[in-house]
Amino acid sequence: MSASKLVKPAVEHKESYLEALKEFQDEGRYTFLDIKDVESSFEDFIHKLNEGKKHLHKPYADWVEPVPETVLWLVKDGAFIGTLNIRHRLNWHLEKWGGHINFVVRPSMRGKGFAKKILQKGMPFVCYLGIERALITIDPKDEVGRHVVEFCGGQFDDETPETDQFPARRRYWLDCS
Ligand SMILES: CC(C)(COP(=O)(O)OP(=O)(O)OC[C@H]1O[C@@H](n2cnc3c(N)ncnc32)[C@H](O)[C@@H]1OP(=O)(O)O)[C@@H](O)C(=O)NCCC(=O)NCCS
Repeated sequence: MSASKLVKPAVEHKESYLEALKEFQDEGRYTFLDIKDVESSFEDFIHKLNEGKKHLHKPYADWVEPVPETVLWLVKDGAFIGTLNIRHRLNWHLEKWGGHINFVVRPSMRGKGFAKKILQKGMPFVCYLGIERALITIDPKDEVGRHVVEFCGGQFDDETPETDQFPARRRYWLDCS
């Protein structure tokens, strides 16, 4: 048994990633991805995730400025466990709702300490990208997410109120200096 590690997405994790994607979609995440398409063009999918500065975070590209994003996967014994997304800078939407950092653990691997591992192991990458203070936003009802961020040193700033389009988010800063 090996320790978990954060790595660039890679083709060798295909089987476990696809299983995890099914789990995520069952809870309503990543529904914009078609599993069959991802499976049949997995090398392309991986290539796009690893495009570095050219890989853009653009959920609302028509009305918010896309920003470069680094994607890392937590793997253990060769199997995919979770994802860390690091947006290299904020736009007005990320400033209020999305943050620099997003982390997610596949449902069947939750409650085993992997979210803490993702965040702790991810901080050197965040610093390497030149981010001095990293913003993480959490759903106020997400007790687990809050616990993880506070455990990892996140300092609470304020709460972005719910709008017609977006839910409320608690905003935390992590010091990278
Ligand atoms: C939030 C998320 C990443 C947590 O993943 P996880 O692997 O289960 O988290 P961990 O096992 O590392 O840590 C869970 C911690 O929360 C604690 N916890 C569990 N239920 C809790 C509750 N109801 N209230 C407070 N803390 C709770 C656990 O005890 C554990 O802390 P401990 O190790 O100090 O005992 C996972 O639920 C997820 O992917 N959610 C969807 C995406 C998301 O919300 N991401 C966070 C915002 S970016």
